[in-house]
Amino acid sequence: MGKLISIEHISEHVGEEITIQGWLYAKTGKGKLQFLQVRDGTGIIQAVMFRPNLPEEIFEEAKRLTQESSLVVTGRVKAEERAPGVPGGYELDVAGLEIVQIAEEYPITPKEHGIEFLMDNRHLWIRSKKQWALLRIRATVMRAIRDWLDSHGYVEMSTPILTPAAGEGTTTLFQVDYFGEPVYLAQTGQLYNEADIYSFGKVYCFGPTFRAEKSKTRRHLTEFWMVEPEVAYCDLDQLMEIEEQFVSYIVQATLRERDHELKVLERDTRALERVSPPFPRISYDEALDRLKAIRQTTDDPELKDLLAIEWGMDFGSPHETALTQQFDKPVFVYGFPTACKAFYMEPWSGRPEVSKSVDLLAPEGYGEITGGSERISDPNLLLERIHQDQLPEEAFRWYMDLRRYGSVPHSGFGLGVERTVGWIAGIHHIREAEPFPRTLGRVYP
Ligand code: 4AD
Ligand code: MG
Repeated sequence: MGKLISIEHISEHVGEEITIQGWLYAKTGKGKLQFLQVRDGTGIIQAVMFRPNLPEEIFEEAKRLTQESSLVVTGRVKAEERAPGVPGGYELDVAGLEIVQIAEEYPITPKEHGIEFLMDNRHLWIRSKKQWALLRIRATVMRAIRDWLDSHGYVEMSTPILTPAAGEGTTTLFQVDYFGEPVYLAQTGQLYNEADIYSFGKVYCFGPTFRAEKSKTRRHLTEFWMVEPEVAYCDLDQLMEIEEQFVSYIVQATLRERDHELKVLERDTRALERVSPPFPRISYDEALDRLKAIRQTTDDPELKDLLAIEWGMDFGSPHETALTQQFDKPVFVYGFPTACKAFYMEPWSGRPEVSKSVDLLAPEGYGEITGGSERISDPNLLLERIHQDQLPEEAFRWYMDLRRYGSVPHSGFGLGVERTVGWIAGIHHIREAEPFPRTLGRVYP
């Protein structure tokens, strides 16, 4: 047995005898040669079994190996340019093999499977190369999020998941029975973050978020992860500066650290290399003009229908997709109508029908990845908005207090992890950016 190593560090061991603990991903070969694709969680390597170099019984043993059998393999590492795998370019000349378990016939084979079948087998599907690459990218995105915030003076605060009232709107709440009282799964940690900034200045919360949205689109999950930074003494312009720095850092860190995984996904990374500050900023009014112009030039009647929009309406996915196709970087859209946004947003000076809100839309048609705003700091105005939206005043008593003791202008945003990963990884549906996604039609496995 050689030194136990991880495949991701294979390049440091050329010429050495090493051992890998893993699983059989695939097997090919005939006659005197057998090629085992072995994965260990950190990568995939081609292990070559050459009959004349091996004890007879080991070569025969290898023939029994089925897909996903667990095994421990020992051999010498060789650089071999054409060898497949992740990172690829290295081979293992097998000297020893120990079978841990011969796997039963594995349901996911290299042939095409339907999405429902794959989702039913999500617990197994995550072993497949593309899913593995995606979830490794997700972990890096999550670490980059924390790295940037932690190194820029933000204090991580946990916010509760069981909450007494709506944060974003009453129509998307999951109700839970709390000893006979109704409470709700958190749609956002923002309101608690707003309390936290008065103690810490700059904070963030990072955790699961729940939306009982009846939307069956490629951008909606019912449970997703959101990071929410919140900053005291911060206006809308400063918020956009923070967001463009933050998002650029996440993208560049992923490019740097997940090169192999992005290759597995065949992601065209040129679009990501361009992601650096500043990002273009357009107002909602300008976005509407652009959408009207796009609509006028299209001959596709279906698209014309989808792109129909009047001032006051929120964007749907088709609007976001069309807009982002006009930019080669993420684009900020700011100043949405007050009526289509949450109650806590600061109104535009002299234009109360417009809110100091901003969404960041990812390019290549991906659309909204962050939503944020400046918050109302005046107690009377906030109370008025709570009444207007018919929210339970009693549940917001503590939130009103924040406007009574040293209220300051403040702003924050939320970034959805799965939408961000979906864009960076270049996948179609964000359900694959979550290990065990929950959607309108699925809570299994
Ligand atoms: O725009 P949203 O609803 O904003 C808030 O919740 C604010 N309270 C955030 C804040 O200011 N602190 O959600 C923020 C982001 C969206 O831009 C999107 O990336 C993601 O969360 N998101 C979803 N992701 C997946 N599935 C869903 N159903 C999502 N809803 C929102
Ligand atoms: Mg939003």
